[in-house]
Amino acid sequence: MVNETPFERLVIAAYRLPFKLTKTKKGYKAVQNSGGLVSAILALSENFKANNKVLKNSKIVWVGINDNLAENVPPESFENENFDILPVTITPTLNDLFYGGFCNDLIWPLFHYFPSYSVFNNDYYKAYQEANSKYCEELIKIIQPGDFIWIHDYQLMLLPEMIREKIPDATIGFFLHIPFPSFEIFRLLPRRWRESIVKGMLGADLIGFHTHDYTQHFIKCVKRTTGFEVHQNIIYTPNKRVKADAFPIGIDYDKFHDACLKEHVLAEKQKIKLHLARQKLIFSVDRLDYSKGLLLRLKGYETFLEKFPSWHSKAVFNMVVVPSRDNIEKYKKLKKEIESTVGRINGKYSSLAWRPIIYQYKSLSFNELVALYDLSDVGLITPLRDGMNLVAKEYVACQIENKGVLILSEMAGAAAELNEALIINPADNIEMAEAIFKALEMKPEEKHTRLERMQNRISNYNVFTWAFDFFNQTFDTKKLQKLVSVRFINKAISSQIVTDYRKADRRILFLDYDGTLVPFAKFPELATINENTVEIIKKLSNDDKNQVVIVSGRDKKFLEMQFAGVNVSLVAEHGYYIRKGVADWEVTINTGEQWKEAVLPIMNEYVSRCNGTFIEEKTGSIAWHYRNADSDFAQLRLHELRDDLSEIIHHKTDFEILEGHKVLEVKSGKYDKGQAANALLSNQKFGFILAVGDDKTDEFLFKALPDSACSIRVGLNPSFARYNVTDISVLLELLEVLAE
Ligand code: UDP
Ligand code: G6P
Repeated sequence: MVNETPFERLVIAAYRLPFKLTKTKKGYKAVQNSGGLVSAILALSENFKANNKVLKNSKIVWVGINDNLAENVPPESFENENFDILPVTITPTLNDLFYGGFCNDLIWPLFHYFPSYSVFNNDYYKAYQEANSKYCEELIKIIQPGDFIWIHDYQLMLLPEMIREKIPDATIGFFLHIPFPSFEIFRLLPRRWRESIVKGMLGADLIGFHTHDYTQHFIKCVKRTTGFEVHQNIIYTPNKRVKADAFPIGIDYDKFHDACLKEHVLAEKQKIKLHLARQKLIFSVDRLDYSKGLLLRLKGYETFLEKFPSWHSKAVFNMVVVPSRDNIEKYKKLKKEIESTVGRINGKYSSLAWRPIIYQYKSLSFNELVALYDLSDVGLITPLRDGMNLVAKEYVACQIENKGVLILSEMAGAAAELNEALIINPADNIEMAEAIFKALEMKPEEKHTRLERMQNRISNYNVFTWAFDFFNQTFDTKKLQKLVSVRFINKAISSQIVTDYRKADRRILFLDYDGTLVPFAKFPELATINENTVEIIKKLSNDDKNQVVIVSGRDKKFLEMQFAGVNVSLVAEHGYYIRKGVADWEVTINTGEQWKEAVLPIMNEYVSRCNGTFIEEKTGSIAWHYRNADSDFAQLRLHELRDDLSEIIHHKTDFEILEGHKVLEVKSGKYDKGQAANALLSNQKFGFILAVGDDKTDEFLFKALPDSACSIRVGLNPSFARYNVTDISVLLELLEVLAE
């Protein structure tokens, strides 16, 4: 089932270490920390150990907070047979602001759709940055070539980028174990924070989520906060391509399933059966957390007791709440409310012989947990929001006789895979009550069919398949990055370009404007050239051997203003106008303006139908800009506009739709940047030709030039150009060297 990993060592970074050490008479004993993340990685580590080929005999390294700081535990106590443990030391004050504050007073409630619980505090954010840097410092000390660095969860969202800065070619995966919310929720974070979170995560090569929905939410947030292009889940960051995808975390299915018949579990079951007598058992186990819907679950159960009195004395609800974060105010308050609600319901319905709710606030041992899963007739798992919910999967795995029924909230990530459960809305107490009744009354054949389907699914995509799927996709992403990065200008290529340039007696340099010499701005008129860049262009154009041509889609007036007093030739409106040096403007083709009567009304309609878009009218073309619109909505409108325009353009055969960077333009197809370049080359001999651009309109230029030309595309898109550079600054550095 498990193959050899394609890396030497697995380094896990997570907020917590997998164990907390507790003092015993004989020294320190390791006690497993709670939560799905720890459960999953522990299962993985056990399997790796059993199959020591997997990690080429090395142990997993786990970097996480030192929970035992106060006790001054000797370092050797952290030694563990499955892990090399690297504790990160954070002062209690910093931890309160970082973990108690930013993580659990802001991100946890916000990402679980409890915005009103979220506390926005600048000190929390500073602490979050500082704590993430601490993890980074520790990791940097131990990372070796060949390591796979796997960063987990919302406590460490800045860490991937921090490590990337220090070790640019590291292999980094990031996995979020909680939901990623929709943009409408995410945007509640101050702009700086949300930008740094998104960019922090994008430091990884692969970003994993539990469900397709969370992945799509993340991609939308990337587009809205950074403007990066995304195609089929690949995000085009300035430095590299990053993949985001769904990997629904699984469980060690066989371990849970097989445990049901093990001696210790059988003994546990015997004990429970004695207490239950003939009553049906409804069971739930969750960490203490408002996201788990504990109070609403009690309300649903109370409604069941109210509506179905025939079940009084015949069913009992065992609600186990595992202690978690109980020094945070919200959690303390929740615990009190749960206890008083349980007391109230028990007070109302109990008899001498029967208590409707058995409430336990404690951790369960593995054997107790499996015995309870196995014996219970109903698994009542009803979180208000949950990234995945492993308990639901564990419950299904432990149904060895297939006689239980899973009631599952539609808000749990697991609902996407476990749709044969009775799916309910946790806030609807009537639906919950009816589902409990239905589960208790369900025919054995139906229970069997439902469980068997779910078991097939979760036994196939288990925690090992999950991890290996993640590893393999990270390596595929790395391969993709390599494939496109071979065209990047490196030191050797750049010095070859400089040598070729210096050798040549006559040179011509074609430079696009927007996205090449000048970054994009909110509105075209704001994207003006800065002094440094003008200086570089001046130096280049004052060299007698050079002819510098600005090849742009901009109109004449704008280009004249930006390059006033600079000795360059100008190509405006993609080649509609050409100005050779200081000569007058020439019109390459006169299309007249009558054609605009058909195009303008359609484009205007799309300005009204898509907020943030606007029209730029030039002599030979009309452009619809959608840079400032919601990117997904604009894509939809873009398709429609393209269709509408194609219909009329079809009749005017020499017109075409040109798509640039967040702009759609209609112009005659009889001229383009390539033809304009040819007009300027006009059969002259140049020893060095340079062409630089950043979007599809520049591809005409790249295609038109002889093979010997040095063509460069800014950005990561595939291109006819020979090379790519990651961003404008890299290009300007090269031009500066040429100008010297
Ligand atoms: N669990 C535990 N101690 C207990 C009871 C349960 O560690 O006393 C485990 C349970 O087996 C499951 C995990 O805690 O693997 C809970 O994961 P889940 O995804 O359901 O929720 P999370 O706690 O991560 O929000
Ligand atoms: C969830 C989170 C984990 C976290 C766990 C326990 O599973 O996704 O990152 O570790 O809860 O929470 P705690 O705050 O006790 O670490």
